[in-house]
Formats: sequence, structure tokens, C-alpha cells
Amino acid sequence: MLILGLETSCDETGVALYDAGVLAQGAPPAQGLLAHVLHSQSDLHAAYGGVVPELASRDHVRRLVPLVRETLARAGRRRDALAAVAYTAGPGLAGALLVGAAFGHALALARGIPAIGIHHLEGHLLSPLLAQPTPEFPFVALLVSGGHTQLMRVDGVGRYVLLGETQDDAAGEAFDKTATLLGLGYPGGPALARLAEGGRADRYRLPRPMLNSGDLGFSFSGLKTAVALLVRDSGQVALEDATRADIARAFEDAVVDVLVAKCARAIDTSGLSRLVIAGGVGANRALRSALHAEGARRGFDVFYPAPELCTDNGAMIAFAAALRLHHGLAPRPSHAFSVRPRWELGATV
Ligand code: KG4
Ligand code: ZN
Repeated sequence: MLILGLETSCDETGVALYDAGVLAQGAPPAQGLLAHVLHSQSDLHAAYGGVVPELASRDHVRRLVPLVRETLARAGRRRDALAAVAYTAGPGLAGALLVGAAFGHALALARGIPAIGIHHLEGHLLSPLLAQPTPEFPFVALLVSGGHTQLMRVDGVGRYVLLGETQDDAAGEAFDKTATLLGLGYPGGPALARLAEGGRADRYRLPRPMLNSGDLGFSFSGLKTAVALLVRDSGQVALEDATRADIARAFEDAVVDVLVAKCARAIDTSGLSRLVIAGGVGANRALRSALHAEGARRGFDVFYPAPELCTDNGAMIAFAAALRLHHGLAPRPSHAFSVRPRWELGATV
């Protein structure tokens, strides 16, 4: 049962083909992923310092047909073998979402197969199940992307309880805004992380927001302000490379400390022993090694998607649809559709 997955919620066009028959056979879920391709629009938006929604929508329109062809060719499958089309229905940019939704429904209608709208964060949340070893339910999930920072309890497919979330900026957003302050361009998160690797840990110390708040909430917007003050107080008009690297390191250390402490708290309070990391910031190496160390110390296991499946991709959308179909949780087939630019994950259940 072949499912085509389409991701167009923001600035990446992702397309993938997943064979849901693998789930029925009880084989490792990763075996069902037959092909996935991605086109990043980062070059398109770089000149503007952020995503321009209208340009994003137009580029998705341009990319979808060739990417679907490429995905099918890579998997060696034909269009008429498709059993369903899954697309990201929200949250995200309204116009960008509509491109994927309209394309998905048009293709599904033409082929007489269902189109399934998927919650983008559910895609991220379930993507670690595509890795080896595969985490079993229940687990605690940390979703750290450009738009979200949330801790969730995941009891099964479609069974998600929000434990805590950011009050302001998402962790990825904080990485991107801090990168801009350091002159790293867009999207700055990965560049900031690379810079931090060469930075000194003992030169600057930034606050750890809400570290001792006693709950599972986060707040990252103050860190960006703290970095802006460091830049100002450095007295350097154009920051020296070493100073930029040291500031990047101080910022990354602060974010990682807070994320690790809150994950540990979520594990303690939930009584669970598995932690799953999803979303773009999950690709951060400092975060990964700190979480491993904490897990080893406290006796919990940490799971991640493959690095290429941490950021937005079509595989997670096809896979989430496959899991929903497998568990009888797919929506009733209909070709009336809308998208939900704002959409709480709990509302999918
Ligand atoms: O999940 P994602 O691809 O898109 C959203 O749904 O937001 O996450 C993108 C975010 C961006 O903010 C990006 O800067 C951040 O993930 N990111 C990183 C790293 N790789 C991507 N942040 C820190 N370190 C990284 N290595
Ligand atoms: Zn995402």
C-alpha cells in the first residue's frame, strides 16, 4: 500500500513514498521508506533574511511535479500504484499549505484514491520511529523546531498530551534570531551551531531562562536580548571572529542546558524512561551529546530521527499517514479540504 507524502508547510518542498504494507507485516518501519526527496528554498529567501510567504508558495508550485516524478523514479514505482496521498494540512504558512493540499487532493481525485491531511508536528513527533532502534510507546517527546518548543507525552498514534511549551520564541527561532545578530545570515541555526563548536565555554555566561521555574515551560526571547547586549557591550563595530564564536557558544550552552534540564524533569514527573527528540533543532550536536550524557546518568534512553529527517521532509508526512491508516485513525475520505495555519496538536485526536 503505497502512500505519497507531501510537505509544503514552510520553506522546504518534501516528497516521499512510503509502503504501509511494512507496518502490517510487523517489519521495522524504516523498511517502508522507499524514497524521499527534498528541495530547500533557503537560497531563495536568504536575500530577505527570512521566509517570504508568497515566494515560498510559488516555489512549492514549481517544485512539486518534478519532485513527485523524481520520488517515484527513485523508488521504481508508477503513479498508478499509489494507494493514498498525504499532505501537511497545518500548522504553517497558509499559502504554502494550500499548494500541497490542492496538489494532493487533485492528484488523489485524478487517481480515485484518498487524500489525507496530516498535522506537521505529528509528522515530526513520529519520525523517530523511522530510525533504528525504534522507540516503543509510551515516551516523552521534545519537539524543537523553528516554530515550536514543546514537551509532549506520547501514549500511541494520535494520543498526545502537551506537558509544557515555550511562552515566546521557539528554540529554533532563538537560534535563527541570534544568528542574525551575529551576522550569520538566514537560516542561521546550523551556522550558529557550527560557529559555537569553535567557541570558548568560559568567556561569556548567558542566563538559563526558566531553568528553575518548577514546571515544563520555556522562554527563549530574553536570550536573544542578552546576546544583543553582549554584542553592544563588546564595543566592536564588526565583531571579531573569536568573539562571535564565543558568543555563539554561550548561547548554545544556555539553550542546551535548559532543554536538557526540562527533558529530565519531564522524564521524572511522567515516570517514563524513553525520550524522543524531533524537529530541526534535534540536529544540533551539542544538544544530542548533552541529552545522551543526561540519559546515561539518570537511566533513560534517547531516540532521534536520522539527521536528514530531523528537519522538514515528506517522509514524516507519508509515515504519519501510514500509521494513522494502520491504526484505523485516518479521517473519512473527502475531497473538500481546508488548511489550518494555526493548529494545536492535541486537536488532531
Ligand atoms: O523542523 P524544522 O525543519 O522546521 C520547522 O518546522 O520549524 O526546524 C527548523 C529549525 C530552524 O530554526 C533551524 O535554524 C533549526 O531548526 N536548526 C538548528 C540546527 N539545524 C536546524 N538549530 C540548531 N542547531 C542545528 N544544527
Ligand atoms: Zn517542521
